[in-house]
Amino acid sequence: MAEILDDSPANIERLAKALLADRLVAVPTETVYGLAGNALSAEACAAIFEAKGRPAHDPLIVHLSDLDMLGEVAVPDPLTRTLAEAFWPGPLTLILKKRPKVPSLVTSGLETVAVRIPAHQVFQKLIAAARIPLAAPSANPFGYISPTTSAHVAAQLGDRIGFILEGGPCRIGIESTILDLVTGSLPRILRPGAVSEDQIRAVLGPIQKGPFAVASPSETQGLIAPGLLDRHYSPGTPLVLRTRPFASEELMNLPTDVAALCIQKPGDARPNIFWLSEDGDPREVARRLFSMLRDLDRAGFGSIEAEPMTDEADLGRAINDRLRRAAGRGNQVR
Ligand code: TXA
Ligand code: MG
Repeated sequence: MAEILDDSPANIERLAKALLADRLVAVPTETVYGLAGNALSAEACAAIFEAKGRPAHDPLIVHLSDLDMLGEVAVPDPLTRTLAEAFWPGPLTLILKKRPKVPSLVTSGLETVAVRIPAHQVFQKLIAAARIPLAAPSANPFGYISPTTSAHVAAQLGDRIGFILEGGPCRIGIESTILDLVTGSLPRILRPGAVSEDQIRAVLGPIQKGPFAVASPSETQGLIAPGLLDRHYSPGTPLVLRTRPFASEELMNLPTDVAALCIQKPGDARPNIFWLSEDGDPREVARRLFSMLRDLDRAGFGSIEAEPMTDEADLGRAINDRLRRAAGRGNQVR
């Protein structure tokens, strides 16, 4: 079983050495826990794909400690500095042109590389100690819900990895926003996250004339960002995403083997009624979403019926995106 270690100086040193020896370490970030390995080592990166059961066509995000490290792995785009100043360290991943020293395994053969500087002090200590860029996908078996605590990682990957660095529950709870700066003629959001489209527009607006694109699911399906695959982040229990919140009588009439997943605490209480936030605060909803889906998945219900966020501003869009993917294809939405 993986050892769960705190961020004492001795542990950080030990884990940095392990990374330099091509071993894997599960790490906390502000978004979700990642499974980290030396991004410049094809061997370490192969071990990441293997541990996750991840197909080789799904590229990894490279995590950096600071902008000095950026030039090693990517060619900074003119917009990079502006975005970095506004959002790094933080939950924004940029797709940039890659440098040759990044193994093609990391980028699944693409000429681009995904990079971000994460905002978690414990992970930052480890990157700084190892002094290497770290490739880290979310630390879950491929296709399952991303982990937001060390216990989630231990439960699913504990027998396949040596170490988990403890960093407490993740503050944001859903994966970073992915912004592609190089593939098209305009910047494109490939995956919505805690950095919203409005926030990015506010920063790019003065530089970038005209609108930038937000990729539609059909455009990206299975192609550039497999995180955008139809079914992803899924619990084993079938999940239905509703088009609108539950009415009180709908909740009362729900069969007992169906779990109702509400955004906000409803007036009615039943053993099969659950909610993500007392008052519907999007930050709390995002933080608790994956943990709740895991709990419901283990609770033995026949299915889960989930409410959408009615407001897509701010985090609402990213939350609905994850719920839609948890529901999967076609008739799972009603
Ligand atoms: O918040 C996060 O981003 C977390 C933490 C650990 O940093 N990481 C994460 O990684 O969510 P992962 O591997 O689960 O999702 C990364 C996504 C994948 O959908 C992948 O296809 C996309 O990033 N990606 C990576 N490199 C890419 C590239 N060069 N072009 C387009 N998409 C890329
Ligand atoms: Mg993932």
